[in-house]
Amino acid sequence: MRYRFFYSIIISCLLFFGSNSYSADLENGKELFKFCTLCHGKVGQGVIGGDFPKIGGLPEYYLAAQIDEFVAENRFNPAMVTIGRLDSMTDKEKADLAAYIASIDIQKQAPTLTIPTFTGNAKKGKKLYKGDCKTCHGKKAEGRVKKKAPPTAWQYSEYLSRQIDFFKAKDRIHDNDPEDETFDDYSKEEIIDILTFISTLDD
Ligand code: HEC
Ligand code: HEC
Repeated sequence: MRYRFFYSIIISCLLFFGSNSYSADLENGKELFKFCTLCHGKVGQGVIGGDFPKIGGLPEYYLAAQIDEFVAENRFNPAMVTIGRLDSMTDKEKADLAAYIASIDIQKQAPTLTIPTFTGNAKKGKKLYKGDCKTCHGKKAEGRVKKKAPPTAWQYSEYLSRQIDFFKAKDRIHDNDPEDETFDDYSKEEIIDILTFISTLDD
């Protein structure tokens, strides 16, 4: 009898933790988000010019993965990890935080915010984007869960440009593939054309 009792407790625990049956605590996530607003803005709108990226409304899968990347220093920004207190948060807290940030409706919270259009050739950029980026980032740069690729349509062009420089220098890994060569053959001008096309997609 006793064994059966313990056995059923263990099974219940496995079911509970294995099924993701707890839902994220958005109130707790909102509370923790206060550590992020100093740099990312009150609703995660970032700063025009892209020194601080927009994060409000990014998908949960991407936020959670990137938070881990920063804590592990695969993406290097110690000030964010310390001031944002990410280094002392539990996994549950980080999950609550990612769920809250993902739940922010940025269009509603910051309706006047638009991405200034970048200055390259959008037509050329569209062609390159369709050939090389669309499969993962989506037709309208809305991101694709299946590819774990983030939306880029409403992100500041300067921020995206900086990330591409990091990818090229292997200071950040693109598509979780250390051998990734996506950007190797593009000139600076072509990258600007692609980013110009992306910056026309934010409505
Ligand atoms: C001290 C300023 C600062 C604070 C505080 C801060 N961040 Fe950041 N964050 C940055 C900067 C700067 C970047 C861009 C880094 C880069 O260029 O790689 C960034 C990038 C990010 C990104 C990547 C966005 C993307 O599209 O890939 C995420 C996600 C993020 N921050 C989440 C958070 C969260 C969550 C918090 C609060 C716990 C937080 N940040 C607090 C400065 C900060
Ligand atoms: C095979 C899939 C794939 C293709 C093709 C692809 N990407 Fe990505 N991209 C990703 C993934 C996955 C990420 C998330 C980064 C990571 O792996 O941590 C990403 C991240 C990015 C980021 C960083 C966004 C942010 O918010 O920080 C930029 C910028 C980007 N990609 C641009 C491009 C461009 C431009 C192209 C086409 C020239 C392209 N990607 C093609 C999968 C892809």
